[in-house]
Amino acid sequence: MGNGLNGQASKTQDGSLVLMMCNRVMSGDCLKILPAVPAASVDLVFADPPFNIGYEYDRYDDRRKKEDYLRWAEQWLEAVRRVLKPTGSFWLAIGDEYVAEHKIRLDALGWTLRNWVVWHYTFGVHCEKKFTRSHAHLLYYVVDPKRSTFNADAVRVPSARQTVYSDRRANPKGRVPDDTWVLRPQEEARCFRADSDTWYVRRVCGTFKERVDHPCQMPEAVLERIVQACTNPGDLVLDPFAGSGTTLVVAKRLGRRFLGIELSENYAEQVRRRLEGVEADRSTRSRRGSNVAETE
Ligand SMILES: C[S@@+](CC[C@H](N)C(=O)[O-])C[C@H]1O[C@@H](n2cnc3c(N)ncnc32)[C@H](O)[C@@H]1O
Repeated sequence: MGNGLNGQASKTQDGSLVLMMCNRVMSGDCLKILPAVPAASVDLVFADPPFNIGYEYDRYDDRRKKEDYLRWAEQWLEAVRRVLKPTGSFWLAIGDEYVAEHKIRLDALGWTLRNWVVWHYTFGVHCEKKFTRSHAHLLYYVVDPKRSTFNADAVRVPSARQTVYSDRRANPKGRVPDDTWVLRPQEEARCFRADSDTWYVRRVCGTFKERVDHPCQMPEAVLERIVQACTNPGDLVLDPFAGSGTTLVVAKRLGRRFLGIELSENYAEQVRRRLEGVEADRSTRSRRGSNVAETE
C-alpha cells in the first residue's frame, strides 16, 4: 500500500462510523482493494479503465481477449456498485471499441443513464484508410435520479444568447452545458493552435504544466466539470484506475475527499508527488472558471 496516509472518519449508509482511509492513492489491484472500502460510502466514482486497445502501460497489459476484458469489467463494475451511495453518481470514460458492451452492463446494474457525453478533441492519431477519431465517450449514470447531486450553477457556461446575440432575455447566470464537450482556446490557451478553436490533443500536451509521465492522462478541465456538478465540498470521490491522478488532483483542489487506486506503484508514486503540489480551493468555481465550453 502507498504512503502519505491520511485516514478520516466517514459515515456509511447504516450510520455506523468507520475508519475510512481517504485523501490518498493506494497502489494495487482495484478488485482486491475495493472490498475493503465500506459499502455505500462513495459519492462519485470516475472510472477511466484501460480501453483494451494496446496502450503501453508499465504494469497492465492492454491487449486482452475480449471475453476476458469484459468479464473483468463486470467484476470491477460490481465492486464499484457496492461502494457507491444510493445518492451517488458514476462516470465511465471509454472508447468506441467497448462503449456498447459497457452500456449494457451498466444498465444491468439498475442505474439510470443521465448523459452520454461525447468529449470532442482533434488531432488524434491521423488515419488515411478510415476517418480519424476525435472523441471519447463519458457515460454518466446515477443510482437514483431523484436523490443524486447535480450542481447546475457550478458548471454553467455563457450562452450564445448572451455572447452572440446580446439577448436581454438570456439567463445572466448562463446555461447548463450541452452533452458534447469541447475545450476552447479561451479556457486552455496553451492547448490550442492559433487557427483552431478545438482542443487539439487526445491527451494532455507534453509541454503542459499538469503533464506527468503517463500514456493517457485526462485533462483536469474535464474532471473539474464532473466533480463540480456531481459532488459537494467534503464528498468522497473514488477513482479505481487513478493513472496519473487527475481525478484526485481535481477533487483535492475542489475541497472533496478522494481515494485513488492504481495498479502501478510507479504511477501511484507520481500521483502522490502530484498531489503534494495541490492546494485545496473551496470556492464553488474552479480557479479556471467554466473550463469546458459548450458548442454553440
Ligand atoms: C486509462 S488509465 C487512467 C488515466 C487517468 N484517468 C488519468 O487521468 O491519468 C488506466 C489506468 O488503470 C490502471 N489499472 C489497470 N488495471 C488496474 C487495476 N486492476 N486496478 C487499478 N488500476 C489498474 C493502469 O495502470 C492505468 O494507469
